[in-house]
Amino acid sequence: MKKAQEEVRKVVGRKSKVEENDVNQMNYLNCVIKETLRLHPPVPLLIPRQTTSSVKLKSFDIPLKTKVFINAWAIQKDPELWEDPEEFIPERFEKNQVDVRGLDFKLIPFGIGRRGCPGISFGLVSTEYVLANLLYWFDWKLHGQDACSIDMSEMCGLTSDCVLLSSDTGQFSKANCLPTDLAYCLSFPLAKLELAS
Ligand code: HEM
Repeated sequence: MKKAQEEVRKVVGRKSKVEENDVNQMNYLNCVIKETLRLHPPVPLLIPRQTTSSVKLKSFDIPLKTKVFINAWAIQKDPELWEDPEEFIPERFEKNQVDVRGLDFKLIPFGIGRRGCPGISFGLVSTEYVLANLLYWFDWKLHGQDACSIDMSEMCGLTSDCVLLSSDTGQFSKANCLPTDLAYCLSFPLAKLELAS
């Protein structure tokens, strides 16, 4: 958090707001987002596919019309593909330019191929911009908890659990939301936070 915040504040400097161009220079923040999407993909099994012909994949014969689930969550934690896969290490992306948009099959939080997410750019840009603003304007701390005691385990479900900050009450609440909603939810409180600061 500290490292990302230092980068954001260094890039933005003394300007009165974070500009879109600034975000392109925030390499570490970008690594943090990639690492978060690696460890906690919002759509862990992607959207189910169905084979349009029979396929031989390695030693498996997959018949026509088989429903196929792609376990992005498991791929992104595969110890054969990732060093210390369970650890949150954004630095792993500093030297290794793994693509997050579906070109590298070991990192596919937006899915792959023709049914891949059409909102990749919007999703990434919104996340970067919102996070940059939150880190630029605010110092964050945990209340009565240390970082290690936060429960980061996923729950079973079609959508991911996320924590929303109500801009009216300042209270945190838990909600189930799809990634499509997430970008919107994240950008909504920001408008008010910016005004308040
Ligand atoms: C960080 C944000 C987001 C993540 C991680 C994400 C992830 C995904 C994933 C994994 C899929 C399934 C792709 C596949 O099975 O290959 C998907 C599909 C989709 N996403 Fe996103 N998404 C995000 C943001 C958005 C946004 C902002 C929009 C629209 C503005 C959007 C619209 C869609 C749509 C319409 C589909 C269905 C595509 C289809 O079935 O052909 N997503 N998304």
